[in-house]
Amino acid sequence: MVTEFRHERPPMPLGKVIGSGASRIVHECVQDPSLVIKVPKTLEHAGTKSERDYIQNYDTQSVNYLEWTIWNAVKDTKYEKDFCPCICLTAEGYLVMKRAEVPLCESGDIKSLRRRLRHELCMADIGGTRNFGLYNERPVLIDYGIHLNKTALMHIKNHTKGKR
Ligand SMILES: Nc1ncnc2c1ncn2[C@@H]1O[C@H](COP(=O)(O)OP(=O)(O)O)[C@@H](O)[C@H]1O
Ligand SMILES: [Mg+2]
Repeated sequence: MVTEFRHERPPMPLGKVIGSGASRIVHECVQDPSLVIKVPKTLEHAGTKSERDYIQNYDTQSVNYLEWTIWNAVKDTKYEKDFCPCICLTAEGYLVMKRAEVPLCESGDIKSLRRRLRHELCMADIGGTRNFGLYNERPVLIDYGIHLNKTALMHIKNHTKGKR
């Protein structure tokens, strides 16, 4: 269930850029340094022809919606701890997420989290080290704007906290 969708708010001031992927550029949050803001890339962010082609052909905005949807699916389940928490999706389509520490190299903990998410939630396409971080000293996935299949969603629902 979506817990918070802010329809009306003033434009959110973006702090300095702290990361970038194929679909999003990630900024510090000026008001709260414990948060980051994921902004869908537009053509103005494209430096190369292949980046331009990708942004032209791919709905980068949908990635934030998918991430927000997955966060709301895993929240209050045993999988919550494996995902970097999202705070809100803004009217501009920006996603506000907790800031994680992004490690430079892969640890055994990250490897085992990736293996578990692939195996238990069929998340085949979760990428390398830069899509993982440490939050409250635990490894978490920070880039999960992907489609989950229905079996995985059912599996998550069956692991709601407190459910016997
Ligand atoms: N929650 C976060 N905390 C700290 N850095 C982040 C966070 N989310 C993303 N980043 C940084 O921004 C980069 C791009 O973000 P990501 O979500 O992977 O975008 P994309 O979906 O476009 O690949 C990441 O590789 C990481 O360096
Ligand atoms: Mg990424």
